[in-house]
Amino acid sequence: MRDTLTAPPARTQVPIRHLTSPQALDRPLIEQLLEHAAEFEQGTPREASPLSGRLLATVFYEPSTRTRFSFEAAMHRLGGQVLSAENATRASSAAKGESLEDAIRVIGGYADGIVLRHPDVGAAERAARVAPVPVINAGDGPGDHPTQALLDLYTIKKELGRLDHLRVGLAGDLRNGRTVRSLALLLSRFPGNELVLISPPALRLGEDVVGSLTQAQQRMRETTDLSGAIADLDVLYQTRIQAERFESSEEYERYRGVYVVTPELMRRLPERAILMHPLPRLEEIDPLVDADPRAAYFRQARNGLWVRMAVLDWALGR
Ligand code: CP
Repeated sequence: MRDTLTAPPARTQVPIRHLTSPQALDRPLIEQLLEHAAEFEQGTPREASPLSGRLLATVFYEPSTRTRFSFEAAMHRLGGQVLSAENATRASSAAKGESLEDAIRVIGGYADGIVLRHPDVGAAERAARVAPVPVINAGDGPGDHPTQALLDLYTIKKELGRLDHLRVGLAGDLRNGRTVRSLALLLSRFPGNELVLISPPALRLGEDVVGSLTQAQQRMRETTDLSGAIADLDVLYQTRIQAERFESSEEYERYRGVYVVTPELMRRLPERAILMHPLPRLEEIDPLVDADPRAAYFRQARNGLWVRMAVLDWALGR
């Protein structure tokens, strides 16, 4: 029998740092991550290769350009390495019927962290329940996209100098757009903000998010009129009508092109304001707008790199 007097002290169990929903992000953690992201951008990280020897699995059951590439670039820049399934629906054993839970249990035995994109709402939460390593939600259907919301906050802070007392217009497909759902919740952590929800009635922000915002006493109003709403905004956050979430192409066609940001419309946006978009953009922003200095969407996409470096260092760092 082991002598209790000479036994090593019991190891305290460190909780796994999953990031599956915006609920996990309170204001102190948001501020910590944004500060750390700024250090990466400024080239003044606390450590040169903090994730050296660590392995990240990026498991994507839906297409992606920004999220997957920026997570993978972030991991490499942190000194770590990457295993990638860029088309997990067809190229993993999901094609043979393997459950998400079994896949995550297995991949969690090979990698030190998992970045997951999946078409089902709640998939990241399900994965986190069985994963032996951190799971980061890279988009779960029309559910959430917490790291996009963080990079959106980072962009607003960098462009406008603050995250409070802003009037932010969220426009387009608010029903299916996971980025706006997560961003609205994170903006409600900061005082004095007002959300202007701009969408056709059928594409309104989901009741679940509106309920959380109401509980947080978030000031907000709804309108269908983009042109009428933008004259007093600090941020116009335009989004794509999410064709892949509609029941039929006829339904999608009904809303396609409902709001288009053109150089003419930009004349109504204040000079101090910025135009954001999570991208990819289709026809909802005229490419002629790209030359406008207020068009921040490509700078926004670039900021994903610094923010995802901070997220990975937080989740996987020692
Ligand atoms: N914004 C965003 O999530 O882009 P991708 O779908 O290209 O990752």
